[in-house]
Order: sequence, then C-alpha cells, then structure tokens
Amino acid sequence: MRIAAIGDLHVNESMTQPYRDLFTGMSAAADMILLCGDLTNYGKSNEAEILAADIAAATAPVIGVLGNHDHESGHPETVKAILTNAGARILDAGEALEHDGVGFAGCMGSMGGFGRGMLSAFGESSVKTFVQACLEETMKLETGLRMLRTDRAVAILHYAPITETLTGEPTEILPFLGNSRLGETIDRFDNVKAVVHGHAHRGSHRGATPGGVPVYNVARPVMAALGGRPFALFEV
Ligand SMILES: [Fe+2]
Ligand SMILES: [Fe+2]
Repeated sequence: MRIAAIGDLHVNESMTQPYRDLFTGMSAAADMILLCGDLTNYGKSNEAEILAADIAAATAPVIGVLGNHDHESGHPETVKAILTNAGARILDAGEALEHDGVGFAGCMGSMGGFGRGMLSAFGESSVKTFVQACLEETMKLETGLRMLRTDRAVAILHYAPITETLTGEPTEILPFLGNSRLGETIDRFDNVKAVVHGHAHRGSHRGATPGGVPVYNVARPVMAALGGRPFALFEV
C-alpha cells in the first residue's frame, strides 16, 4: 500500500482552499492519506470548515489524529466532527481501522520527555495529573494497536515517539515535543511497519524506534525543507 502523510497544516481563517491541490496530489500518488495533527491553527470551527472543504477533494481515504493546536479553542470534538463529516476518520479514542489488509492506529500522544529524562508521576498533584494524562494518550495507542489483526500496521501520532526525528530542534524544548513511552509501546507490536508524526517543525524527516521501526516526521515545514514533493510518500 502506498501511503501519503502530512502534518501541521495549521489552517487559519484567512486561507482560501489552501490544500485543495495537496489533497488532489496525495490522492493521485497514494492509496491512503494520513494526517498528523495541528490541522487547524487554533482549533476553531471556521478553520476546520476550510480544511474540510479541501479534504472533500481527496479521492483516497483519509485517516488522521488531532494536534495540540486543534485543542487550543477547547473544542477538539468540534474539529473532529467537522473533519469527520468531510469523510476523514479521526483517531482519538483508542480505536483502530483496517483498510486493504493494513491496520491503522493512532492518537495525538503527548509531551513528557525521553529516556531517563522522562517526567515521572512524583511530587505535586499537578505533575501527577499531567503525567496521568500523558499515560492515557499512550494507552490509546496501545489499545488501538492491540485491536489490529493485520500483519502490517501503521501508527499515526502528532507528538514524536523518538528524539532522532527532532534533530534540528533546540535541545531545551525536546521534552515538549514528545515522549519515549510512545516509541516503547510501538516496539511491543511487531506488525507495526511505519510511524508518522508531526509537531516538530524544525526536526528531521527520518528516524527509527529502538526496535527498528521507521519513523517519519511529516510536519509540513520539515517536508518543505526537503525540497521535493510537499508530502511524505512510502510503502508498507
Ligand atoms: Fe504544528
Ligand atoms: Fe503541535
């Protein structure tokens, strides 16, 4: 299956059909389109409507996750509903999908840090609440992957599961760009053949989990910096 992926479209209210050509191009190149969050700039319904009109131009199926920007207005469920009405499937509750023998699971993920530097649930109750929320996101990914019975699967995230695809970002902000639990979860499932994420606009395109699963940072600015086609394209 040929898969096209892009994240961080950041649609704002001043745009007119900003990604119509992108969705047409991805449909021509691939059998499946994946969207890696930050689809809108502020999570406003007007922004989601503008994107929905462009998604409706896609002829390949569209599966995505939301990003932190899609939560900014406090109504991610409205963004999800508008994009769902346009035909996209938005994964945000531990669900999984199968299409032509390939499984798809995903979630937004969360920040939290990497390796031994990962934030733990210790001390202030506010820290414990935050870490619990991070764990719940990871559980959504695990629940989705566990449901899949396909021998090939793709994980869709907004936040990064490894640091390798963050190369280029200031080291001070790495803990805000993702967390290792996402990568550790993916490595427990040998049918996962690829991972896509966004969020890290200044990161690097390609990396791998400790277990060797290819990870693609498909944030739009990362793809633009590569200078080729504006979206990632790979096969599973
Ligand atoms: Fe973004
Ligand atoms: Fe983001």
